[in-house]
Amino acid sequence: MSEKNEYDLLYAKSLEEPEKFWGSQAKDLEWLKPPKKVMSESIDSSRVWFPDGETNLSYLCIDQHIKNGFGDETAIIYDSAVQNKVEKFTYNEVLDKVSRLAGGLQKLGVKKGDTVIIYMPMIPQAVFSILACARIGAIHSVVFGGFAPNELALRIDDARPKVVISATVGIEVNKIIPYVPILKKAIEKASHKPEAAILYDRKVENTPLSDISFVDYHKLQEESTPAAPVSLKADHPSYILYTSGTTGKPKGVVRDTGGYAVALNFSMKYIYGVKPGDVFWAASDVGWVVGHSYIVYAPMIYRATTVLYEGKPVKTPDPGAFWRIISQHKVNVMFTAPTAFRAIKKEDPSGKFLHKYDISTLRFQFLAGERCDESTLKWSQKMLKIPVVDHWWQTESGWPIASNFMGLEPHKTKTGSAGKAVPGYFLTIVDEKGREVGANQEGYVCLKPPMPPGFALTLWGNNERFVKSYFTRFKGYYFSGDSGYVDEDGYIFITGRVDDVINVAGHRLSTASMEEAIALHPAVAECAVVAKQDRLKGELPIAMVVLKPESQKEVDTIEQQLTQKVRESVGPIASLKEVVVVLRLPKTRSGKVLRRILRTLVNGKSYQVPSTIEDPAVIPEIVECLKKSN
Ligand code: COA
Ligand code: AMP
Repeated sequence: MSEKNEYDLLYAKSLEEPEKFWGSQAKDLEWLKPPKKVMSESIDSSRVWFPDGETNLSYLCIDQHIKNGFGDETAIIYDSAVQNKVEKFTYNEVLDKVSRLAGGLQKLGVKKGDTVIIYMPMIPQAVFSILACARIGAIHSVVFGGFAPNELALRIDDARPKVVISATVGIEVNKIIPYVPILKKAIEKASHKPEAAILYDRKVENTPLSDISFVDYHKLQEESTPAAPVSLKADHPSYILYTSGTTGKPKGVVRDTGGYAVALNFSMKYIYGVKPGDVFWAASDVGWVVGHSYIVYAPMIYRATTVLYEGKPVKTPDPGAFWRIISQHKVNVMFTAPTAFRAIKKEDPSGKFLHKYDISTLRFQFLAGERCDESTLKWSQKMLKIPVVDHWWQTESGWPIASNFMGLEPHKTKTGSAGKAVPGYFLTIVDEKGREVGANQEGYVCLKPPMPPGFALTLWGNNERFVKSYFTRFKGYYFSGDSGYVDEDGYIFITGRVDDVINVAGHRLSTASMEEAIALHPAVAECAVVAKQDRLKGELPIAMVVLKPESQKEVDTIEQQLTQKVRESVGPIASLKEVVVVLRLPKTRSGKVLRRILRTLVNGKSYQVPSTIEDPAVIPEIVECLKKSN
């Protein structure tokens, strides 16, 4: 047997002696009240970590560094390719902005435990808003800017925010997205009405700040007294982050405070191989979990300068955008989704733009958010000539579950694998009946509780749904929703979702919410949305629609209206462009739509007619419709 390496030892220790392991990791953090106890008893398959410890995420991200003499170092680099500007903020400057905004929130009546929705583009004020909430113990819920009013309204009704914070506009490639009408529509649609809406004026175009129903962000910040960080119990909810499930109603994943900070701190050191003072760049959006954990909290807690990038990998202005940023800001460790590299590779396959820049500061490139195909992985390895690490995680986990470990002796890379299980996670593959399977056998990717620190506490206001969604299908396990296998050396391969969640350009979306939007069209009798593989975005939604008999003649117009409907209801990021009219959908005898066979058909794969199908003749009918639509 080969000798155990650093990873094996650390991993074994994390599972054999979790209390000792995480207790020692917690000592690396500065607590407002250090915990005496490491774990509580397990409640509903989750566990409270550091139950008697107290801390504050805003304190950890800002005040502790100032106290330790780093106040004049750069905390945030804001690089806006869409505005062609760069702004830098030291910890002292961030403290001033965040503590005043926190004071402003208090002035508006926001207290510990209240919720605040943040609907903002990638601007520093989004980060300040997040940290201002954390400072006073308000629970933030950031909603990604690409979601439409309907999705925002769903989140407002579930989170019931006291206050909403937004900005006048978002800036996309060559276009301005006015946020005010979206926000107003969402608030109108929602049954819950926030007490106030704070608006940050980007001064990009004339926007209705004169509208008295908005509180001016600038004024509120300038005229408020700075608020001190509130000492919070480790299990105080820091945020709610909505993610897509198998229904149209998003799931509000609730994150704790102390366990999250310990996990993120651990990950920066061991997984990402970051050193305090390094420059860390996660090219994602604050609206996703990657943004929460690796644009805001982890780098800031660990005292790595974080880059906040407002732009795209291509077209802002060219496929050299990423390399320009790495070179200009001397980025040491970077994180993005494979889609971003696919987009760059498509426009600049030979790396002409890359060769214009000196990116020698970059030590490691991390990829996550979707499956990384072999050609993208190989291309990035060839271009960057540094370790390219595919790693796997979810909104629910808040930090990686599988990875390679740049802060330890790294493993050799196996193409297609997202690495090995992260310390603290017992990952296993089970079959349909919930029995653990052997090496290289594909099945359902599960985790055996207890979950490590930082893992979702519950779903907001709905612990029953939490237990039902994750812990019921396979008794004794958390089910991730993904399929995959583990090879004989412990390498994990994630092969895709097995539920109705779709991954479009690294964005996790629900096909059910798109179906709900389509079903509202008066011409539609029924529909099913499934994932079609796409060379750029990984997956794209395709809608299979059965029209009512009286609407059969207006097919072209209806198709256009349906794509528009999804855009208006879910948002432009859904990227639903393909609608195929079919005569009927494949169903079981009890009337359940057989989506799996539809997925196989739209991807042109060989298929077996499911034994549960009511009428097998529907399959060739659909194949014919797909042929005609191509
Ligand atoms: N606010 C408003 N609209 C947004 C938005 C936001 N924050 N983000 C995207 N959109 C809109 C876009 O403008 C576009 O609208 P359009 O249909 O009118 O052109 C639509 O949503 C689709 O956007 P996007 O998915 O960004 O597609 P694209 O074709 O413009 O760009 C890529 C393709 C690959 C460059 C882009 O998807 C990308 O950068 N992907 C990486 C994603 C990523 O980092 N994910 C992180 C998860 S970890
Ligand atoms: P999200 O919750 O938005 O982070 O999306 C999580 C989902 O994205 C996972 O359940 C996977 O389906 C997918 N995913 C994330 N990272 C990877 C990866 N490295 N390889 C394959 N799929 C991934």
